[in-house]
Parts: sequence; C-alpha cells; structure tokens
Amino acid sequence: MHVAIIMDGNGRWATRRGLPRVAGHRAGVGTVRRVVERASDLGIGQMTLYAFSSDNWNRPAQEVESIFRLMRAYLRLETERLRQRGVRLQIIGRRDRLPKLLLREIERAEFLTADGECLHLRIAVDYSSREAITRTISTVSQRLLQEPQSSVDSLQNFLNSALSSESEDVDLLIRTGGEKRLSDFLLWESAYAELFFTDRMWPDFDAADLDAAVADFKRRERRFGGSTTNAAHSIAPSAGLSP
Ligand code: FPP
Repeated sequence: MHVAIIMDGNGRWATRRGLPRVAGHRAGVGTVRRVVERASDLGIGQMTLYAFSSDNWNRPAQEVESIFRLMRAYLRLETERLRQRGVRLQIIGRRDRLPKLLLREIERAEFLTADGECLHLRIAVDYSSREAITRTISTVSQRLLQEPQSSVDSLQNFLNSALSSESEDVDLLIRTGGEKRLSDFLLWESAYAELFFTDRMWPDFDAADLDAAVADFKRRERRFGGSTTNAAHSIAPSAGLSP
C-alpha cells in the first residue's frame, strides 16, 4: 500500500498560537516521526511525504532556510533509528538547487538505509509533479526520434514504466490543513488514488488520525473504472488509451 501525504497547516498552527511559522514546521517534524513509526506498524509498504514543493521557493528566504535546517536535523538525528526499523529513505525531486550541507545529509541517509525492507519512505523536496512528467516526456521524445514507428500504446506503456520506476501508484492520498487540492503532487501516480482530506493541521495529526484514514480507505470500493458487477464479460480492448 502506498500512502502519500500533503503535510499542510504548519504555518496556521503556529500563527494561531502566536508563534513564528517556523515553530509550526518544527512541530511538523514531530508529526513526521510519529506517522513514520505508525506507518511501519500498520504494514504500509510505501509512504511519500510532501515536504517542500518547487513552488515553495516563493516563500521568504528565512522560512525556506529554516525548513531545510529542520530537514537536515531530522536526517542527522533519525537515520539510525530509521535503519533499525527497516525503513529505506529516499528523497525525490530536484537536487541541483538544494544547499550542499542538506544534500550531503540526504546522500548519507539514503546510503545508510538502502537495505531497509519494511517501509520505503520517500520525502519530496523541491518536487513538482509536472516537472517530473515533463522530464520523462523529454526521454520519451528521444525514443520517438529513434523509433519513429512507435505506436501510441507502446509510448504510453513506456511513459508509464518510466514514471513508475520513480514512483508506485498511490493508493491513499491524505491532505491535512483543510484545503482540498493536489498542489502538483504525484499527479500521474494518483490517477486512481483514494483521497482523504482532514481539517486537522499537520502538527496535530497523530497516529490515531493515520489509523482513521487507513480504516476509511479500507471501507472504500475501488473499481478502477470498472463496475461493481463481475468483469468476466468485459469487452475492454487489451490496451490503449481509454477514458
Ligand atoms: C506546509 O504547511 C508545510 C511545509 C511547506 C513544510 C513542511 C516541512 C516540515 C514538516 C518540516 C521538515 C520535513 C521533514 C520531512 C523532516 P504550510 O507552511 O503551508 O502551512 P499553512 O498552509 O498553514 O501556511
């Protein structure tokens, strides 16, 4: 099961308490610890957390620097614990614009947790789903130049496998903080994701909230475009573009 989370509401959580926004992000790191711990207990195989979108560069430099500092501290302090729990940590997104010290900490954490088999934890940093799709399409167009006879089906399969090699399909997408949008997060991978929105601010989200979201997900009927009746009589073509 792949659970993706848009961790929203840190700033509002802090402002409502008369605290600087960074206090919300700091409290948000505590939630990351709790949720990751719970995820492995629940048997979730893959979890992707949206920590910093490519559009977040538009925030004041001081806030951006604080978020990166918190990430570095998290990686420095948590890596050993993650390794012991069998967590494989991976950062997705652009790396070329990240501060060198953060990058070094990321590479160290990825190396030390590379053998983890219980939970594949991915943290999206400087991430934009549109950018990831555009980059993949550019690879696909190279292929088209080499194989001009490629069919639309084979190109779609190629696009799918190129994107899937970066990311599994999302089963459950959770967004905290009361907003109901995807904000350029795992757009391709969420084609059939079940969406769960909660008003809870990220720093207040806890293990019981994750349990509730997963329980809600398990009650849903996933049809992937089919119907509730048996698909045995389906006349669907074997492959291709369909609505
Ligand atoms: C969204 O809340 C949160 C962020 C953009 C940053 C999230 C960062 C962390 C939780 C800290 C570091 C992460 C890890 C993985 C260690 P917001 O600031 O947009 O809140 P608002 O909508 O209330 O303003």
